Amino acid sequence: MLDQAYRLRELIKSKEKSSKQLRIIAVSSGKGGVGKTNFSVNLAIILKELGKKVLLIDADFGLANVDVISGIFPKYNLSHVINKEKKIKDIIFNGPSGIKIIPGATGLYEMANLSEEDLENLMNAFEAIKYDFDFVIIDTGAGIHKNVVNLLRSSNEVIVITTPEPSAITDAYAVIKLIFKDVKKIYLVVNRVDNYKEADLTAGKISNAAKKFLNVDLEYLGYILEDKIVSKANKEQVPFYIKYKDSLSSKCILNIGKKLIYEELDLPKIEPSFAAWFEKLISNFIPSGGK
Ligand SMILES: Nc1ncnc2c1ncn2[C@@H]1O[C@H](COP(=O)(O)OP(=O)(O)O)[C@@H](O)[C@H]1O
Ligand SMILES: [Mg+2]
Repeated sequence: MLDQAYRLRELIKSKEKSSKQLRIIAVSSGKGGVGKTNFSVNLAIILKELGKKVLLIDADFGLANVDVISGIFPKYNLSHVINKEKKIKDIIFNGPSGIKIIPGATGLYEMANLSEEDLENLMNAFEAIKYDFDFVIIDTGAGIHKNVVNLLRSSNEVIVITTPEPSAITDAYAVIKLIFKDVKKIYLVVNRVDNYKEADLTAGKISNAAKKFLNVDLEYLGYILEDKIVSKANKEQVPFYIKYKDSLSSKCILNIGKKLIYEELDLPKIEPSFAAWFEKLISNFIPSGGK
């Protein structure tokens, strides 16, 4: 294992130089069922409509996944790439509005169990698409799972979603506490609120606790109103932003997308790339390697 991680890091170093800037943003929550997948799918579509090239990676092991919500039914997923049965280009599906989707990426959580060859396949697979995207949005599981935490710690930017429910707030804070030392930028989104005041209050509780106890500044990205359109669109297996652009939920998430792209968010001076991301994944999932 030691040699394996060392060799991979050397390989990564040689590839890092040629990478272009890329924003890899993981979406997570403390509690399950707070709206991660709906948020990830619709945010990806909005970023694309705002002119960015977007890859959505489905690493949520929840029930209603990216494919169900966006109405695509892929035959292959990341495990076929790891097994070398498929090339990564064969498992990148065309999603709505021209976004690209990698389905079934929960295999990423099994990194520690992969052989050296598998890891290399995976890294080379991402290498092959490194110029194709500006944004990678990763829909993850709830961050209370150890493997999800490893995945989050590997991302430079993490969006934590919560609802105003006290249990969701407590769990969101718990995730932030687990990741704040490794993640450069943590954003908050409050979903399913009745009005902006409720959202501000919720975001305030988490931000204040994070500042007071962890000395970390969270970036409040915005809120999404409680909206029946979301479940209606889910039943129709179409992203709400595509079919119901004038809905309240669509307007709310559009604001969030614009904020992510246009606002001066004081982004860390880092050189995000698939190679850098991969290096962090390896050191988080295989911590003893190379040391
Ligand atoms: N803003 C919202 N208004 C109303 N219902 C919502 C909203 N966001 C999510 N939901 C509902 O919450 C449920 C969970 O959403 P989902 O995106 O699958 O969450 P997660 O990925 O976190 O498990 C779905 O039934 C969805 O319709
Ligand atoms: Mg989900």
